[in-house]
Amino acid sequence: MDDEQRRAPYVRQWVAYLDEGVVPFSTPGHKQGRGAPPEFCAVFGSRALQLDIPHDGGTYDSHLTSDPLEEAERLAARLWRARDAVFLVNGSTTGNLAALLTLGRPGRPIVVTRAMHKSLLAGLVLGGARPVYVVPEVHCESGMLLDVAPESVEQALAAHPDATAVAVVSPTYTGVTSDLPRLAAICHERGVPFFVDEAWGPHLPFHPELPPAAIPSGADLAVTSLHKLAGALTQTALLLIAGQLVDPARLRAAVAMVQTTSPAAFLYASLDATRRRLALEGEQLLARTLELAERARAALAAIPGLRVLGPEIIADRPGAGFDRTRLVVDVQGLGLTGLEAKRRLRRDHGVAAEMADLVSVVCLLTLGDAPETIEALVHAFTALAREQGAQRRDTAVSGLAALLRATGPIVAGAPQVLTPREAFFASTERVPLARAVDRIAAEPITPYPPGIPVVAPGEAIRREVVEFLETGIAAGMRFNGASDPTLATVLVVQE
Ligand SMILES: Cc1ncc(COP(=O)(O)O)c(C=O)c1O
Repeated sequence: MDDEQRRAPYVRQWVAYLDEGVVPFSTPGHKQGRGAPPEFCAVFGSRALQLDIPHDGGTYDSHLTSDPLEEAERLAARLWRARDAVFLVNGSTTGNLAALLTLGRPGRPIVVTRAMHKSLLAGLVLGGARPVYVVPEVHCESGMLLDVAPESVEQALAAHPDATAVAVVSPTYTGVTSDLPRLAAICHERGVPFFVDEAWGPHLPFHPELPPAAIPSGADLAVTSLHKLAGALTQTALLLIAGQLVDPARLRAAVAMVQTTSPAAFLYASLDATRRRLALEGEQLLARTLELAERARAALAAIPGLRVLGPEIIADRPGAGFDRTRLVVDVQGLGLTGLEAKRRLRRDHGVAAEMADLVSVVCLLTLGDAPETIEALVHAFTALAREQGAQRRDTAVSGLAALLRATGPIVAGAPQVLTPREAFFASTERVPLARAVDRIAAEPITPYPPGIPVVAPGEAIRREVVEFLETGIAAGMRFNGASDPTLATVLVVQE
């Protein structure tokens, strides 16, 4: 390990502000807590408020000090094996917006996974690129999203040789990674930059048993949320640049457009401290996390009615990977939906899962876990299973599984008439779902599970899609992102 990774230049200069005894006549107006509501101060802590200073004018004063952010970012770039790193304080969301403003061009094609996070869709609206969607593979039985097949990207680039970039999400929310080295090679054969939304993979580079991370796999640009799984504070993320296909100056200009002009110094400090810890102890901490995850996986799988999905779901997907720190617990055998199980785990057993869908509950294990937290998790699921007792079922919700299986092909053939940006700025009207056939969507409609937008803004809505949605509604499918969540009506572009 590089000796300079022992340093935390940002943290040092941030704390030094307190030692200097500076009297601030600058933001934030609470002035180190003195102007903050006392009851807030009491719960949050006066020391924390004293350290809530801005970057500019706080940690860094251009008249007096050098900028420790530059050094902290350089150290992060080295650790992640990137050419440059940008600290983000508005999450990977900012990184996705900046990436699409950098890589896209108004009206030009860009190859994007259809299972994109809403911030990638927002980036398409802001930047005006014309998406050429690739649909990830879907696990038949569970409906879980898998990897983006290299062949689908190859075909998209062959059909759109003027595409300005390729953007995929890896890992997925449920821990599946794509064959990134192959995807990178396909892009680079054509000189096309490859961007990975690695929001769910900040820990990947730090343990050999985890799937390969984006930058060492050949990605030109990646965004990763250190707040999600690496121990940094909420909202922190990193944008990483490698190779020569992305212009760092343009990317930084794009970040400056979409990120706050008042970054909190404690967020930068948290990124700096987390980078240092991952460099010094990452492998050891993640070895423990992986061991705890295996222990939890075995204990949960032994509870009658539960099934814990693991690497077997990608067994026939060459090049795909699975992050074993993710516990995807299929609760169908308890006679519950994942949503109901999550609600009861929190309400009755004091355990908060990360997310749930109709079939499963997803729990994240990180370097913040310990044997006691695993015990609490197993205890909660055991109690839930006991409560369910006689209502247990041995079979999957087969009608729903069949519906989920249909999602991929349904989405694949949607004609793109307008770009998401054109649809967003068009005059719109609201029509009943049944009358939306052949109309151009002005909003996304995303069933959860599995989270693939069945309708994206700018696409003509086909009859099969409306029928699919009607069947889904009858089966209790839930939707994310639609302005009328019941889907009685949908927003379409005015004719
Ligand atoms: C795939 C993916 N990308 C990006 C984001 C946005 O990350 P953040 O919450 O750090 O802004 C998320 C959030 O869940 C996500 O799931």
